[in-house]
Amino acid sequence: MKRPFKRILYGGDYNPNQWGKEVWKEDMRIFKDARINSATINVFSWAKIQPSEDTYNFTELDEVIAMLSQENYDIVLATSTAALPAWMVKRYPEVARTDYEGRHHKFGQRHNACPNSLVFQKFASRLAGKLAERYGDNPHVTCWHISNEYGGECYCENCEKAFRVWLRGKYQTLDELNKAWNTEFWGHTIYDWDEVVLPDALGDGIEDAAEPHMTAFAGLSIDYCRFNSDGMLNNFKMEKEAIRKFDKETPITTNMMGTFKGLDYFKWAKEMDVISWDNYPSYNTPWSLVAMKHDLMRGLKDQPFTLMEQTPSQQNWQPYNSLKRPGQMRAQSYQTMAHGADTIQFFQLRRSVGGCEKFHGAVIAHAGTENTRVFREVKQLGEELEKLSNVIPGTVNEAEVGVIFDWDNYWALEYTSGPSISLKYVDQIHQYYRYFYDHNMGVTMIPVDADFSKYKMIVAPVLYMVKPGMKEALEKYVKNGGILVTTYMSGIVGESDNVYLGGYPGPLKEMAGIWVEEIDALAPEQYNIVTFKDGSQSKCKIVCDLMHLEGAEALGEYAEDFYAGMPAVTRHDYGKGKLYYIGSCMEVVGTDKILTMAAEDARVNPVAENGNGLEIVKRNGEEKSFYFVMNFKDEDLKIPEEFAGKMDLLSGNAVEKGEMLPKFGVKILVE
Ligand code: GLA
Ligand code: ZN
Repeated sequence: MKRPFKRILYGGDYNPNQWGKEVWKEDMRIFKDARINSATINVFSWAKIQPSEDTYNFTELDEVIAMLSQENYDIVLATSTAALPAWMVKRYPEVARTDYEGRHHKFGQRHNACPNSLVFQKFASRLAGKLAERYGDNPHVTCWHISNEYGGECYCENCEKAFRVWLRGKYQTLDELNKAWNTEFWGHTIYDWDEVVLPDALGDGIEDAAEPHMTAFAGLSIDYCRFNSDGMLNNFKMEKEAIRKFDKETPITTNMMGTFKGLDYFKWAKEMDVISWDNYPSYNTPWSLVAMKHDLMRGLKDQPFTLMEQTPSQQNWQPYNSLKRPGQMRAQSYQTMAHGADTIQFFQLRRSVGGCEKFHGAVIAHAGTENTRVFREVKQLGEELEKLSNVIPGTVNEAEVGVIFDWDNYWALEYTSGPSISLKYVDQIHQYYRYFYDHNMGVTMIPVDADFSKYKMIVAPVLYMVKPGMKEALEKYVKNGGILVTTYMSGIVGESDNVYLGGYPGPLKEMAGIWVEEIDALAPEQYNIVTFKDGSQSKCKIVCDLMHLEGAEALGEYAEDFYAGMPAVTRHDYGKGKLYYIGSCMEVVGTDKILTMAAEDARVNPVAENGNGLEIVKRNGEEKSFYFVMNFKDEDLKIPEEFAGKMDLLSGNAVEKGEMLPKFGVKILVE
């Protein structure tokens, strides 16, 4: 990929429309001091630029763009279609959404359009086209930002009709549809496409404390998720096409949300020029989970991404919106960059006076001056990024480990009733990712149809749904020498949530050299114990597979309950490779033990032999490579000896032998 931007964009969401002109001037002065060079504008301005059905008014936007162009900003221009104008909802109520409970919404909120409303589609694409026609050839418009954080669901009549059309396209015949959803269960046979209804609370919804939109037919729910994701993606593509009529070149994106459940981001990524995302960890989010989300966002296109939003200080919408501690925003920004970001942008540049986000952090606080802690930190980072602008962008992360992340599996695992409500997809994936994070081994989060041969080791936790082609692709990978790790709740269903008969893990059975007869579920206060061959032990929880060996060797056995002595962890030689199967959710010692064996088999090279608890990530350039060394722990940590003498780009000093890095300390070392 060639670099999409000529420098590191540093800036973020900017809403001068909320302020008088005297404030704009002050903004420009203050931002310049912080080396801000980019602004994301027009995100929620639809009501302003289109005051009625037939009138558009770009006067103010013209002025904002002229001012930013004059100041040589890189403008990220949003299309504004994420919040409907009041007049539109009043005149065409169908543009609003109907929720899961069946309530049709009035005007209000944002991210509120029915994706299948033709009226919405008409107005949204017209607006995107008008913006592109007007501003597309302005060289300062560096990136298009379509809508904002696509998400949510709509259960209106238009969506129901569109769902039937989508299903017809997918299944062709009602026989196929009935088979896919196994409608003989509870006498749900469908005889006419019109009998299909959306899976909401009025239809197949089941009240379930653990899973908000659970239904009696997971196959139906999963199809709805696919349909809804596709519908919103069509909205994105529609605006993209409208822009492309006038502007053939400027990269187009929309801001994503990490492991957000609602949309199949791997499918979306194919339509996006650059991936951008909004990173809002809370005070207690593990840093390894933040890292995993970055690796997922980079993995979507396997190329550097854009950090569209993060807060310079605090959020407003979490239960406890703690301040970022001194140095934290900087460290977090470098963590983002370490994992593949080529920009650092904030929400927001100036804190607003009203509305529900008035307590959301900003570069300029309510105090209105540059004389704040947050501003000083933003400025320090701005000065540093200016120096890195020609150094870091364009370098790449080359991971040896691929961890599979798949939205169909996400939906299927969580919409399935049983065996345990504690099986949450992201937690499960993160549990295994965490090992590689702790051991400074680079990971790329990969889709099920990735080129597996690029990785020495593939980890596929809870690969519950095995879609057509996957069995063959994974077998080929292992046969050729790959090391595959998979776990309980894998190989259970096909693409419509119907079970593979003949014992779990269905299509993976042969390669795993085992078969699973039963799955026990343990309540939160319960656990079993696994004893490994060397006598060491680990607690295990949530689910326990009761399995039999069919060629694999047992690496560990259950120590308790009626299945004591049965295998809990196995390894099977298959072709030139090996498959590790983990039958229960192990505590850290157990997980580490198994993954260490697997990583040794795969000869995975850590970025640093022993990071002493530091996060160390490598980006490779054509001539030079860079080690990002960061401390997210509460104590000072020693920089590994092997880095002594290497030059730190940030301080300009070489690392000394035995040098310690304090909490939130960062070094970018040149190889
Ligand atoms: C999201 C949105 C922004 C803003 C921030 C607040 O990321 O895209 O408009 O609401 O959250 O954290
Ligand atoms: Zn709808």
